[in-house]
Amino acid sequence: MKRLTVPRIRQRKGGEPLVMLTAYTVRMAQLMDPHCDMLLVGDSLAQVIYGLPHTVAVTMEMMALHGAAVVRGSYHAAVIVDMPFGSYEASPELAFTNASRLLKETGAAGVKVEGGKVIAPTIEFLTQRGIPVMGHVGLTPQAVNILGGYGVRGKSAAEARSIVEDAEAVAKAGAFAMVIEGVMEPIAIEITQKVDCPTIGIGASAQCDGQVLVAEDMLGLFDRTPKFVKRFGAMQEHVEDAVKKYAEDVRSRAFPSAEQLYRSE
Ligand code: KIV
Ligand code: NA
Repeated sequence: MKRLTVPRIRQRKGGEPLVMLTAYTVRMAQLMDPHCDMLLVGDSLAQVIYGLPHTVAVTMEMMALHGAAVVRGSYHAAVIVDMPFGSYEASPELAFTNASRLLKETGAAGVKVEGGKVIAPTIEFLTQRGIPVMGHVGLTPQAVNILGGYGVRGKSAAEARSIVEDAEAVAKAGAFAMVIEGVMEPIAIEITQKVDCPTIGIGASAQCDGQVLVAEDMLGLFDRTPKFVKRFGAMQEHVEDAVKKYAEDVRSRAFPSAEQLYRSE
């Protein structure tokens, strides 16, 4: 199976919905890859893998190591790596240095950056120099210290207009796709109709050109359930059940038994 390319993803605008999930580790990437068009090495690994309070603390090293693991575990999906907070905002040149490092060290197909009008010149700078960029508008978690939380964006008419303008700027700058996160649904629909690249929704709209979720959220492995998450699995219960049985078997000496032991017969 040949790996999906950025141009082929871009061509999917208005077509069959794009399927995207986050992946941070090789085994999860292997399991999700056959069913996904894109795997996102999201900086949400802050909370999901590292127990950090938000994504602001994520480093280039974390993204490079997890990105490389996900590329090694996938053959079909295009792998996109989040640029961590602080690695791209200061200037297009800084962004190029760090984005090119991520592509070199991971083998990923592209990077994702948060932001709208302000970051559009950087998106243009990167795409003109060989780095495919996915945008991310609406609720942008790296701005949590400005926003004060993760509430839905675009409730006022002014904020809604500003988000649509952000999306148009990101598309015009050459983003090959964009995530729309945590917005009032009409905003996601309007953006999807207006921009020429695929929109990937999370807490956005079924009319987006694709959807993304944090894998651990939809697998039921993570103890948060925002409104926009649908649990497609119950992994937490599976893990708890298996660990409980293991602990019981160790304590009762039922494990290990003859099957698991090396004995000369
Ligand atoms: O980091 C992440 O997981 C993301 C997705 C939720 C879009 O950016
Ligand atoms: Na992210």
